[in-house]
Amino acid sequence: MCGIVGYIGNNKAVPYLLNGLHKLEYRGYDSAGIAVAENGKIKVTKSAGRIANLEKKLQEKEPYTADVGIGHTRWATHGEPSDVNSHPHSSAGEKFCLVHNGIIENFQSLKASLEKEGVIFLSQTDTETAVALLEKNYSGDVILALSKTMKQLEGSFALAIICEDEPEKIFCARRSSPLVMGKSDEGNFIASDVTAMLKYTNNVYKLGDDEIAVVTKDSIDFYNINCKKLKKESEQISWSIEDAEKGGYDHFMLKEIMEQPKAVAETVLPRIKNRKEIVLDTVKLSEEELKNIDKIYIVACGSAYHVGVIGKYILEKMTRISAEADIASEFRYRNPILDEKKLVVIISQSGETADTLAALRLAKENGAKTLSIVNVVGSSIANESEAVLYTYAGPEIAVATTKAYSAQLSVIYLLSAFIAAKLGKLDKEGLEAFISDLENMPGQIQAVLESSFDEMEKLADLFLETEHAYFIGRNLDYAGAMEASLKMKEISYLHSEAYGAGELKHGTISLIEPKTVVVALCCNDEIFAKTISNIKEVRARGAAVIAVTTEKHKNEILDVDFVVSVPDARAELLPSLEVIPMQLLSYYTAKKRGCDIDKPRNLAKSVTVE
Ligand code: G6P
Repeated sequence: MCGIVGYIGNNKAVPYLLNGLHKLEYRGYDSAGIAVAENGKIKVTKSAGRIANLEKKLQEKEPYTADVGIGHTRWATHGEPSDVNSHPHSSAGEKFCLVHNGIIENFQSLKASLEKEGVIFLSQTDTETAVALLEKNYSGDVILALSKTMKQLEGSFALAIICEDEPEKIFCARRSSPLVMGKSDEGNFIASDVTAMLKYTNNVYKLGDDEIAVVTKDSIDFYNINCKKLKKESEQISWSIEDAEKGGYDHFMLKEIMEQPKAVAETVLPRIKNRKEIVLDTVKLSEEELKNIDKIYIVACGSAYHVGVIGKYILEKMTRISAEADIASEFRYRNPILDEKKLVVIISQSGETADTLAALRLAKENGAKTLSIVNVVGSSIANESEAVLYTYAGPEIAVATTKAYSAQLSVIYLLSAFIAAKLGKLDKEGLEAFISDLENMPGQIQAVLESSFDEMEKLADLFLETEHAYFIGRNLDYAGAMEASLKMKEISYLHSEAYGAGELKHGTISLIEPKTVVVALCCNDEIFAKTISNIKEVRARGAAVIAVTTEKHKNEILDVDFVVSVPDARAELLPSLEVIPMQLLSYYTAKKRGCDIDKPRNLAKSVTVE
């Protein structure tokens, strides 16, 4: 949520800042701005709207020649997306200029007391209080002023600052909002996300909570909040710049959809040994500890929560431990029953989602065992959970997740079979059969991609004549319907809802009328016939119906507008297959409706605010 970039080196800063902002635009795109330190003065250009607006403004000005600068792309929280609310923000005396990610929760009280002292604020942002405070706390030592300011700020922040008195430095600080630094032959970089600097380096330093960094052309130094110098090692990131570029596709979303067989293979296969054992090195829970667990909570937000809902069905079915899926923002405020007998599984692509991180902390504080499924190595959730199982999906740029979702699902399968085997709920043969099916999954996903690619493009036409769509299913199919519906609404702006197929008749069926599109997921063998009855109910009310089922059932579904089929597979693994045509259907619907697929309105990829 919001992107920060900074450059300091021997070259002109602006091209590096703009390149970095383009890479980070998926984090927020309400406004963008940069600040450079040039000839002893700080110069700022910022604009509401996309980066293109900022670029236009810059072109109309005398070009900046500075070799140091910071930049920001915003997802608005406090104050509308206007020029004045855009970052960077300067202090009244114009000594400091900063960009900020996160939320300063006590900004109102800070602002009131600063106003009493005569400070005049220009924007409605919480951020402006931080820069005002910095100037107030400054008496010649920026690190000291920053340390004092951090102690007064409540909430979350990643800050990048330039100061008129020390124009050859970028000062950084963070609490609960990511910030990384990298050295390269072309200069040194800072960014909220490694993708902004992958073109130049993949060797990065991660700033920790309540730490400060000072970046110059030749050095990066770290301090704790009490200004004590810290030693920090850099980390090698395995992602490459190609991973973070479109590579010939029209949209990142389509590229990422097509990368799913690889993401799943890379997440699953290294964890399978000799086709008969699942090795999860980081999960240290002994058989005894597993036996003691009386409940598994799976906690996440957005699509990761939908993975959690699928996980609830599969974990419970395979391990016979009661499992529940929770939305992180609800879980943390509902006083859940947590103790050492609970296993809390946290799922997050970014590893930085504020509510999910808070849920993890709550679980730990209350003695529960914690395990996270995360895509970004070294992210806050990965760092803070007792065990982490990484998904190896590579960087995901499109706001709507696809490949990270599929990789998360595959970790759920691994984990379920791993626990079930340890508890003796899955015998040797059963485990080997499960593993063999898992190994086939990347190939099956590839097959669905190939068979449904053109089909979904045509089928998307059905969604051009309606403003309402319903996705229905039972059990695992219902969980799949939740994700299919979210995907459709978030990128195509079509109103869509997911319903348990059996629940429709308790109210929602009154909304079904001719031309309403109902997508019925009915892959699950055990309840196939039940869902078919529900299809008949909506059909009788004139709905256009698309049924998604397996090869073996496809000829049994009559009287619908279209049947989409996926290969036959073990029930637990079918969610990974049925989601593929649904992603493509959303993609093509959004494309035909002229939507901004990779950057849907009002959304951001990494949600680091509550
Ligand atoms: C945002 C994204 C979703 C994602 C959710 C959770 O809403 O648009 O695609 O599922 O955040 O993000 P996380 O990084 O925790 O998986």
